[in-house]
Amino acid sequence: MTTTHLAGPRPAISDRLRTRLEARLAERGIDPRTSLPETPEPVPALEAAQKRIPVDYRAAVVEHPDVAAWVGALVEAAVAPNSGGLNPHYGTAGRRQLTHGPSLLLWGSTGCGKTHQAYAAIRALTAAGCGVAWHATTAADLYADMRPRAGAEPEQLLRRIMRIPLLLLDDLGAAKGSEWTEEITFRLVNWRCQHRLPTLFTTNLPPVRDPDTPAARQPVLRDKVGDRVLSRLSGMCTPVHFTGPDRRFLRP
Ligand SMILES: Nc1ncnc2c1ncn2[C@@H]1O[C@H](COP(=O)(O)OP(=O)(O)OP(=O)(O)O)[C@@H](O)[C@H]1O
Ligand SMILES: [Mg+2]
Repeated sequence: MTTTHLAGPRPAISDRLRTRLEARLAERGIDPRTSLPETPEPVPALEAAQKRIPVDYRAAVVEHPDVAAWVGALVEAAVAPNSGGLNPHYGTAGRRQLTHGPSLLLWGSTGCGKTHQAYAAIRALTAAGCGVAWHATTAADLYADMRPRAGAEPEQLLRRIMRIPLLLLDDLGAAKGSEWTEEITFRLVNWRCQHRLPTLFTTNLPPVRDPDTPAARQPVLRDKVGDRVLSRLSGMCTPVHFTGPDRRFLRP
């Protein structure tokens, strides 16, 4: 019986075939020795979130340092499912979920980028791999959805939004107010404050009056939402002041 000793691993293709292939690639301007460009891994959760984000904000990235710090703190505090359960060996696998945390009050003039940064924060949390059940609405849309009408379950809707792990409540204080809207806002903010559920609020109004500006010339959030809501917002939120021009006018 004879034993064949091979000099090394056999090449996958013959030299003739390699030469022909390389000639073909060269015709097309392709150099097989250059490495392929890095293709980013798709994040399925981010792709799903993108579909629910208004087109205008789908490419939003976090730029404001206070928003970046908030995202970082929430990611840090996210926990694995059931990790607080009686048996830590069961159910700890899986994506970490947002739990409790602080909220943000993004305030500033029209068009300076508050909603943009709010959606950027949602995108960043999703891209960080956290399980994020989120809901976004403007205060005006929420009040409209809460109006009693046939077939609607406004109470169920409010309870669902109150409990959602991450909420964007956009344009707080922009809608025409009444005792009824104040009551809805109070119930929502009170629940989220007591349960420390992370919420992104945006508003055009300064939270409180600047003592140097005459009261008549300066509407503030307190006038719109009342003392009790403002007290809770102060307790749960980091205020982030946005300045700058209306970006909608800067568009080419
Ligand atoms: N950092 C940014 N980079 C690129 N585009 C931006 C940025 N910030 C805002 N924009 C764009 O500018 C426009 C206005 O931004 P946005 O809607 O966030 O303003 P806003 O402060 O929420 O305004 P309003 O008070 O009227 O609700 C949007 O079209 C948005 O996509
Ligand atoms: Mg906005």
